[in-house]
Amino acid sequence: MKIIGTGSALPEKEVSNDMLAGFLDTSDEWISTRTGIHTRRLLSSDNLGDLAITAAKAAIESAGVNVNDIDYIICSNVANNYVTPSLSTIIQGGLGDECSSPCMDLNGACAGFLYAIDIAEAFLATDRAKNILIVCAEEPTKFCDWHERETSVLFGDGAGAVVVTGGDNLLARRVTAKSLKDVIYYKRPLENTPYDRSSQDQKTLVMKGHDVFRMAVRSSMNDINTLLEEQHVNPDDVKYYLLHQANMRIIDSIREHLNQPVEKFPTNLQRYGNTSSASIPILIDELVRGGKIQEGDLLMLSAFGAGFVTGGALMRW
Ligand code: ACO
Repeated sequence: MKIIGTGSALPEKEVSNDMLAGFLDTSDEWISTRTGIHTRRLLSSDNLGDLAITAAKAAIESAGVNVNDIDYIICSNVANNYVTPSLSTIIQGGLGDECSSPCMDLNGACAGFLYAIDIAEAFLATDRAKNILIVCAEEPTKFCDWHERETSVLFGDGAGAVVVTGGDNLLARRVTAKSLKDVIYYKRPLENTPYDRSSQDQKTLVMKGHDVFRMAVRSSMNDINTLLEEQHVNPDDVKYYLLHQANMRIIDSIREHLNQPVEKFPTNLQRYGNTSSASIPILIDELVRGGKIQEGDLLMLSAFGAGFVTGGALMRW
């Protein structure tokens, strides 16, 4: 598998820590020192479907393929306003009538991009598809109770996309899951029926921050070390470690364990907050368009999220 095109799109509305401190008992100092986040983008007059379509079109254009060359669409999304139809079918509609590929959504939480890569690789390897569009589109700010400073300050909305095709660039991948539904969860209501009156039960995002922090560092180290050992790669030979953009202190801790310099860990969480599964493809798109990622570079991707799920990939650009 190899990535041949990238794209991303962010909402227009930029919200600073100081703006949050205007209605929450928080401060720029607390948020930036505990998380590294300074601003985030929030959907307001724009919507997630349009953001996802913009990112998808940019990825297709940079891949140099036509819309009708896309023969599968995989969308990574935790939740959006539509329970059905899937967001991937909404993206397909935005690409125009020439696109008639099968579509599927997956919920791999913040590791969704790595789960999508894993599935896409299997489809390519078995000739089920030739060019697959992966779009990670997330609006986690809409899971939060905006009276709760513990969660609402952490997230941002956004979309990142890639087009993948056959090739030898994906050297190794790894996805894991361990059912732990209490560490991060968000419950949305469904309709009651005459036989079940519990469907309206809902809960805005709950997160045990300390547990998530510890599990994130431990699981990411495990995925990265497993992939490096499997491929007999020295950590020094990796050009960039592209980690899920959740929290600067998590990234710093992983970097210190790996004993690698800060330049190898590009970040954008300062500007966008935690955009869930969109964070890594948005980061890749920015690095590619900025000329920072060059052909032949060795990249390590690693993400973790609610579930608890994790994913990692070692790839040659
Ligand atoms: N502003 C000001 N004070 C706050 C805020 C805030 N926004 N949020 C919490 N506090 C307070 C707490 O109430 C607590 O006060 P107390 O001591 O009086 O009880 C104090 O700050 C310290 O709180 P802690 O939870 O100990 O702060 P910590 O240093 O652990 O940082 C954080 C919290 C940032 C959530 C951290 O635990 C963390 O980063 N965890 C990982 C979270 C994460 O990355 N989640 C996403 C990954 S998974 C995914 O992407 C879905």
